[in-house]
Amino acid sequence: MDYKYNSAMKGEKERLIRQSDGYYEFDMSAINQVTDTFDRTVCVLDLGCSDGRLTFSRFASEKIKKVIGIDYNERDIEEANEIAATYGDKFKFYRLDIESVDFISRLKKIFVENGIEKVDIVFSALVLHHLRAPEKLLKNLHEVFSRDGKIIIRGSDDGGKLCYPKTELLEDILRKYEKAITVSDRSNGRKLYTRLFDSEYRNIRILYAITDTCGKDLSQREHFFDVGFGFRLNTIDALIRSDPQNEQLKKEREWFERALSELRRAFCEPDFWYCNTSYIAIAEVE
Ligand SMILES: C[S@@+](CC[C@H](N)C(=O)[O-])C[C@H]1O[C@@H](n2cnc3c(N)ncnc32)[C@H](O)[C@@H]1O
Repeated sequence: MDYKYNSAMKGEKERLIRQSDGYYEFDMSAINQVTDTFDRTVCVLDLGCSDGRLTFSRFASEKIKKVIGIDYNERDIEEANEIAATYGDKFKFYRLDIESVDFISRLKKIFVENGIEKVDIVFSALVLHHLRAPEKLLKNLHEVFSRDGKIIIRGSDDGGKLCYPKTELLEDILRKYEKAITVSDRSNGRKLYTRLFDSEYRNIRILYAITDTCGKDLSQREHFFDVGFGFRLNTIDALIRSDPQNEQLKKEREWFERALSELRRAFCEPDFWYCNTSYIAIAEVE
């Protein structure tokens, strides 16, 4: 199947905005921990920055001297650069595929253009699981770090999702999705530590954000559903568009439509409990 993640997918932009808002404090706890280790202003590289909304919201502080955002989605990069103009020269966004063979050499040219020698912080949220070879990228990145550079990676993991009742329904959805819809690695969170270690990063720390539906109103419960599950049917639709003869996938879609509607209804019940763990890895270059 020839499928690439695209934030232009139906409803995805809105979902990314809600998701980014929800992770603000978690991201900032990691970013502040890391920026505090530098006694100088720093340069940041945001990989898979989409339209830059998350980038602006996380890296506007005075401690950050320069931010380069990279994404392969052209429209997103255009939008990001339009907003960047209001920040002077601080933010610059470029369209690049971070898995392309010449990624690092093109990145180095971008650094020269921006008067940067190296970056101090590489940040990347919810991107590694879309890549074919994340470790290759992690290893190649060593070339662009300053000597005391740090990396911050936010991942997710379907194994960190629990609910009751409807436990089996949730498990069926997650298992079937992993098996049938193999466009991204839905269990990337558990791999962060090992991936970074094997790619020669050290002093690795994992931060955890655990969120649940306790005490949440209806719109907050719907938010949980949308962030964790809202994209799945749209992903299947995008897959069907790229492979219209795939009858098996169309059958799977029917099953997912029913199962996801049932789960959505459950999220709206006041006695339904759902809990999700998210992961951020922080590490140093050796
Ligand atoms: C789930 S979105 C996350 C966006 C943003 N970091 C956030 O957390 O809101 C994944 C982003 O990675 C980008 N992406 C995925 N694979 C990429 C690649 N090989 N090169 C560049 N960008 C990529 C997508 O275009 C998309 O904007």
